[in-house]
Amino acid sequence: MPATERQGYDAIIGCSAPMQALYATLDRVARSDATVLVQGENGTGKELVARAIHNGSNRADKPFVVTNCSAFNDNLLDSELFGHKRGAFTGAVADKPGLFEIADNGTFFLDEIGDMSPALQVKVLRVLQEGTFNRVGDTETRKVDVRIIAATNRDLRAMVAQGLYREDLYYRIHVINLVLPPLRERSSDVAVLVEHFLERQRRGSGLKKELSASCIARMTAYPWPGNVRELENEIERLVVLSGDDPVIGEELLSPRIRTHASGIVVPAAEDDLRSLPAALESLERRMIVDALRRHQGNKTRASADLKVSRRNLIRLVQKYGLDDARS
Ligand SMILES: Nc1ncnc2c1ncn2[C@@H]1O[C@H](COP(=O)(O)OP(=O)(O)OP(=O)(O)O)[C@@H](O)[C@H]1O
Ligand SMILES: [Mg+2]
Repeated sequence: MPATERQGYDAIIGCSAPMQALYATLDRVARSDATVLVQGENGTGKELVARAIHNGSNRADKPFVVTNCSAFNDNLLDSELFGHKRGAFTGAVADKPGLFEIADNGTFFLDEIGDMSPALQVKVLRVLQEGTFNRVGDTETRKVDVRIIAATNRDLRAMVAQGLYREDLYYRIHVINLVLPPLRERSSDVAVLVEHFLERQRRGSGLKKELSASCIARMTAYPWPGNVRELENEIERLVVLSGDDPVIGEELLSPRIRTHASGIVVPAAEDDLRSLPAALESLERRMIVDALRRHQGNKTRASADLKVSRRNLIRLVQKYGLDDARS
């Protein structure tokens, strides 16, 4: 273990190599005032990273403001971000400052920045370039000093190519681009995260809880499409379902995690050890045997589970001679 390995960064947990690389970048990014675009699948920690950058910056004692651009329609988002003047629209009964003003001197985390209309993209670009904006319905130009961290799980570059996103705004927010690794690409962090969330549950409940080794092994083999959020929820679920039991066994795992094929391929013969087709066939065969067992030989349900057509499954069952793989 290198002397510099870190267990986490601010509230971010993880020891894997991709996370070490992220921490090293965060050290530099936090000290700067550059606009940052954080990308990554759902639940990979984009908001945690934005907070970590703010907390490590010289704006740390100033506001950290968050808004989700996909949570509002266009007019509401305009007023939410930039504020409005009294009478600007029905219901605007008083002057109201927008979030850019509230974030002044601090950091503004604009989540789902891909979900913003072209008109608002222009207004955001103006704040980024000149630090100026107008409240909705107001002629007075205001000035703010706000650092922007944006996040999206959409492919902004592709949106630019399709004419759905302004190229100038894309380049302006893309100054620093952090791409967060999905959990399946850093499976060595699963055990560390499990321990972190278990510890939180122990503190909350006062109960002693740990996961059995086989339970952790199953969790490490699972690809976590919902990333850390999915893992966090699974731990909470396990703690609840385990009642007073101090050791949580694999039988309590959610079925999708418990029954996920581990992907450990055992080729049929020594000669086949390096053959990709042989390994794939071996995996295919094993997944089919497992699915048929899970569903007591019911091919309709097994095929749904495997996400192949029933006809396709019947063909594969014949190919591998699995017709009596019921027990
Ligand atoms: N590396 C991590 N260490 C500890 N907790 C994490 C980590 N990554 C994510 N989490 C936790 O997982 C949950 C989701 O994180 P966060 O909201 O930052 O993800 P996100 O990328 O913004 O997700 P979404 O795309 O769905 O908005 C939060 O409860 C967060 O605390
Ligand atoms: Mg988020």
